[in-house]
Amino acid sequence: MSYYEIQGGRALFGSVAIHGAKNSVLPILAACLLAPGQSVIENCPELSDVSATLDILRLLGCRVDREGDTVAVDASTLYRWDIPEHLMREMRSSVIFLGALLARLGKAELSYPGGCELGPRPIDLHLAALRALGAGITEEQGALCCECRRGGLQGRKLCLSIPSVGATENVMLAACRCPGLTTIVGAAREPEIVDLQEFLRCLGVPISGAGTSTVTIQGGTQLHPARYRVMGDRIAAATYLCGAAAAGGEVEVTGFAPDTLTAVLSCLEEAGCVIHTELDRAVLTSTGPLRGIDPVRTAPYPGFPTDAQAILMAALAGGEGATLFVENIFDSRYRHVDELRRMGANIQVAGRAAMVTGAGRLHGAAVRSTDLRGGAALVVAALGAEGTTQIHQLNHIRRGYQTLDKSLRALGAEIQEVP
Ligand code: UD1
Repeated sequence: MSYYEIQGGRALFGSVAIHGAKNSVLPILAACLLAPGQSVIENCPELSDVSATLDILRLLGCRVDREGDTVAVDASTLYRWDIPEHLMREMRSSVIFLGALLARLGKAELSYPGGCELGPRPIDLHLAALRALGAGITEEQGALCCECRRGGLQGRKLCLSIPSVGATENVMLAACRCPGLTTIVGAAREPEIVDLQEFLRCLGVPISGAGTSTVTIQGGTQLHPARYRVMGDRIAAATYLCGAAAAGGEVEVTGFAPDTLTAVLSCLEEAGCVIHTELDRAVLTSTGPLRGIDPVRTAPYPGFPTDAQAILMAALAGGEGATLFVENIFDSRYRHVDELRRMGANIQVAGRAAMVTGAGRLHGAAVRSTDLRGGAALVVAALGAEGTTQIHQLNHIRRGYQTLDKSLRALGAEIQEVP
């Protein structure tokens, strides 16, 4: 199994272009099923989660062609509605196909996605909302069978008790084919939901409100395939910025919207970095050790993103001063802490809270990725650490980062993938 070997302590300088957003492109690829014909998605990153999604589309009968970062999905030949367990297990977020398949074929069969490395990941809100739209759903021996009840799906007002990103997206997709008006109250407000709305509009769906907590969809209109460019990945951007903050230097990150990352940028500024932003780029300068900052509490957008918690923690662990983190979204999102401790980090965890006391400089060690963002956090820590770090289990990192090592090398980092 290959691993990254990083010689830390080299300041980073230069510019990096961010790839398309993983969390946008996955629901957008599923949404391609809604309109028969060929949709074309640009800025589609080469990630293992994207490959898994394309495999599912092919298995369902779509023709899928990739040329560079452009992917064409022809959904005219869609003929299957069942997703086998091995593909579901590869990627939990394939639950998004539920809404898309229901909308297009009126039925869907997939295995229950179950838990993941972040702890239990229930889908009760997805199922309750789809049932309310008129889907009959049975759960048997780990399989989920969904079928439109007699009379088909019907638009209506729905209330989500938690602003779940996945549940909001699933309802948006299913509602496209529900005659009448669907209103989602308590919707997630993440920028990736806005990106999905923009793609659905291109398909011809009258939809509005994404980015606020009320989304309305006029279902049942005639849809047509479309061409769409996916937004830049704000969490990948946060990773490069935190890497530069930890290692020192001056790095420009382009191809994403800094106003979707305000919560993270203000923490980095509070820690002592100087940040200049424009519409589609940010430049971060880091000259001294990072300072401890006010408590960082993860929250739904526009709060501090749970996906950036481990990454910021890794940068601050090699700084000075104390910072309290409170993880409010997932139960089991501190698995990177034990690995950071191997590098000399001083972090105490108690339930949802983690107190980070800056240890000055971390040191290199052999560590392993525990999950996608936990793995990225180890890279951030290693860039600022003294000596050599070996990061194993790159499969997690490949789920969400395209050519991370190459991009960091271009900024002056000493990072190699050792086969
Ligand atoms: C998405 C993102 C993930 C991010 C997360 C929170 C994708 C592919 N993944 O995941 O990177 O970390 O949003 O911003 O976009 N919940 C329930 N019942 C449900 C659904 C969710 O209780 O039916 C709970 C979850 O356990 C969690 C919270 O709601 O505590 C938020 O989860 P959700 O927003 O649904 O996350 P995902 O869509 O899975």
